[in-house]
Amino acid sequence: MTKYTLDINGASRTVDVAPDTPLLWVLRDTLDLVGTKFACGVGQCGSCTVHLDGVPARSCTTPVSTVGRKRVTTIEGLDAKTSHPLQQAWQELDVPQCGYCQSGQIMTAAALLKENPNPSDEEIEAAMAGNLCRCGTYTRIKAGIHHAVALATPAKGRK
Ligand code: FES
Ligand code: FES
Repeated sequence: MTKYTLDINGASRTVDVAPDTPLLWVLRDTLDLVGTKFACGVGQCGSCTVHLDGVPARSCTTPVSTVGRKRVTTIEGLDAKTSHPLQQAWQELDVPQCGYCQSGQIMTAAALLKENPNPSDEEIEAAMAGNLCRCGTYTRIKAGIHHAVALATPAKGRK
């Protein structure tokens, strides 16, 4: 076991785990941040997506020993009041079905909107292509992202 001090959602957290422990298990099992979901476990579905220094990362294939001082943001830390425009849009449009994939979807979408505040359909599809949804909510996810853009820029609305 090795001690690691991680920056998780703006707080310094020290954990004592094996170096090859996936960040996902540190978040879920050690820190009880269970909003990040385990699905495929092999980097193929996006359910476990978190941000490392603002960039989407698959926490199931990220050994804790590689995180270092990078800022880790989980769905719990995306917005202090759970009112990020994407979270508002997801609620207003009832985007989730079973909901299992949705924290990963929102984290990937949040990184997209930070880079590109008003993406086209094609840009959304490209950015979200790695996040799978067994319930097939892709149409609502795309509508949710456009709605979040409108909520974030009400004067301009969506393009
Ligand atoms: S659980 Fe990490 S990519 Fe599927
Ligand atoms: S909402 Fe069920 S897997 Fe996406």
